[in-house]
Amino acid sequence: MDVLRTAVSMLGLYDHRAKIGEPDITANAAIALSLCAKTATIVAAYHRFRNGLEVPPIREDLTEAQHFLYLITGEVPTDTAARVLDVALILHADHGMNASTFSARVTVATLSDMYSAITAAIGALKGPLHGGANEGVIHMLQDIGELDKVDAFVEGKLSRKEKIMGIGHRVYKVLDPRAPHLRSLAAKLTGELGEPKWLKMSERIAQIMRERKGLEANVDFYSATVYYSLGIPTDLFTPIFAISRTSGWTAHVLEQLRDNRLYRPLTLYTGPKTLSPVPPIESR
Ligand SMILES: CC(C)(COP(=O)(O)OP(=O)(O)OC[C@H]1O[C@@H](n2cnc3c(N)ncnc32)[C@H](O)[C@@H]1OP(=O)(O)O)[C@@H](O)C(=O)NCCC(=O)NCCS
Repeated sequence: MDVLRTAVSMLGLYDHRAKIGEPDITANAAIALSLCAKTATIVAAYHRFRNGLEVPPIREDLTEAQHFLYLITGEVPTDTAARVLDVALILHADHGMNASTFSARVTVATLSDMYSAITAAIGALKGPLHGGANEGVIHMLQDIGELDKVDAFVEGKLSRKEKIMGIGHRVYKVLDPRAPHLRSLAAKLTGELGEPKWLKMSERIAQIMRERKGLEANVDFYSATVYYSLGIPTDLFTPIFAISRTSGWTAHVLEQLRDNRLYRPLTLYTGPKTLSPVPPIESR
């Protein structure tokens, strides 16, 4: 996520169209398409370089999902793998006024530029309470290790008032409608790979959290198992979310610019009201 955020910011430096103060929809729409095309290549290039590998030649005959898997592995993926990633990309593409989309809209509402807005959005997405949760889910499953250790793990977390990644949602108080689709993809993949353990552990976690806290799984809960089963390295999970969400972020930025007004929420001060400075400054 750090590489993606920095690379998107740097692209803005070289794009003469990225002017501030001019909500030029045509120019920004072109930048939006360009960014949607580039994020996957940035992530894949980083992954190849860190492994001492060249990026394979770009191919124009592959879909977005096929192309990303091809870039990171060097091989055209199976139809199943490409279809699964395609569905995951569609499910992550946009989702109302979530934290990263809000960041993008707040940024561009000052009439800053598209690159700044998407850089801000990537920074917001990377946090573990937002898009970073999918990486947290797989780390949690690996920490637990076996199905018979799930109950004690979850009870321990709840007693320490710690969060279980991939559970709960700031808006949904019912099951996230994206979760069942990702759950069936995870079931299909883990079944084919003969490794149903991760899904069984996930389902037990979801069951305990439903019974104990009335909380349901969110989009990140099963997407983690899907990406893991596709053989994707864990630290690319959240960047894949960003690759997909770039389409949503850029669409929101264009919408904001079409009818812009500055965001300026008010805050309610609840601190003490009768403080006075301590003079002189040395005694503070
Ligand atoms: C998304 C999230 C930030 C929403 O937070 P929120 O709106 O404050 O959550 P709620 O108001 O529904 O929480 C109700 C209760 O459940 C607890 N809770 C919420 N999510 C929890 C989780 N994942 N694990 C354990 N307890 C959780 C809260 O602490 C609160 O407990 P309390 O009543 O004892 O104070 C939160 O659910 C979370 O941190 N989830 C894990 C991270 C994650 O998966 N993020 C991706 C979201 S798409």
